[in-house]
Amino acid sequence: MRYLTVALAKGRLAKKAMEIFEKIGLPCEEMKDEDSRKLIFTNEEKKIKYFLSKPSDVPTFVEYGAADLGIVGKDTILEEGRKLFEVLDLKTGNCKMCVCGPAEAAERLKHHELIRVATKYPGIAKDYFFNKKRQTVEIIKLNGSVELAPLVGLSEVIVDIVETGATLKENGLEVLEEIVPLSARMIVNQVSMKMENERITQIIRDVRAVLESA
Ligand code: PRP
Repeated sequence: MRYLTVALAKGRLAKKAMEIFEKIGLPCEEMKDEDSRKLIFTNEEKKIKYFLSKPSDVPTFVEYGAADLGIVGKDTILEEGRKLFEVLDLKTGNCKMCVCGPAEAAERLKHHELIRVATKYPGIAKDYFFNKKRQTVEIIKLNGSVELAPLVGLSEVIVDIVETGATLKENGLEVLEEIVPLSARMIVNQVSMKMENERITQIIRDVRAVLESA
């Protein structure tokens, strides 16, 4: 039996994912050592390997088959646009991708004015404004703290993730339009889905059962 490899998006999501893998009998003791500098963690008995990567790299590892499976947010899957199968909604990390800004920006959005949109997700923003809304805007890529953009005059609105809404509220911004709901997903390499169908469909079934019993 060959090893199955799982790519996990570093951070809170990886912890949550490992709790689920533990519940379906695929734990990884090595991974619990927080001081470890290892990059790949193995469960020899179950022939499964896990590794942590930057969230935006998870779809890349999965598309190329360097990982058979991946756990990553829907935001990253949409933004990366990789060829892979999205097989399961883990219903954790629930949030929304939204157009946000000061209340006054709502009018400018409505009248399809040529506004600037700052975002960490230029792919999602482009698809939303150009393909869905048929609205011409200028998209500016940022790498974090996107809420700053309308506050300092870089853009009229932002496209960003809203979870509790606290960041927006504390900065005098609000949700103007909702683009898409987001949560953590399981993704699968398209060739692995055929070659390792039995093991992978068993994992999907087991994870689904854990989620349903929660
Ligand atoms: C995310 C997102 C928002 C914030 C939303 O940022 O980009 O800024 O969380 O959460 P809230 O609605 O609960 O306030 P993250 O903390 O990932 O960091 P970033 O600013 O570097 O993107």
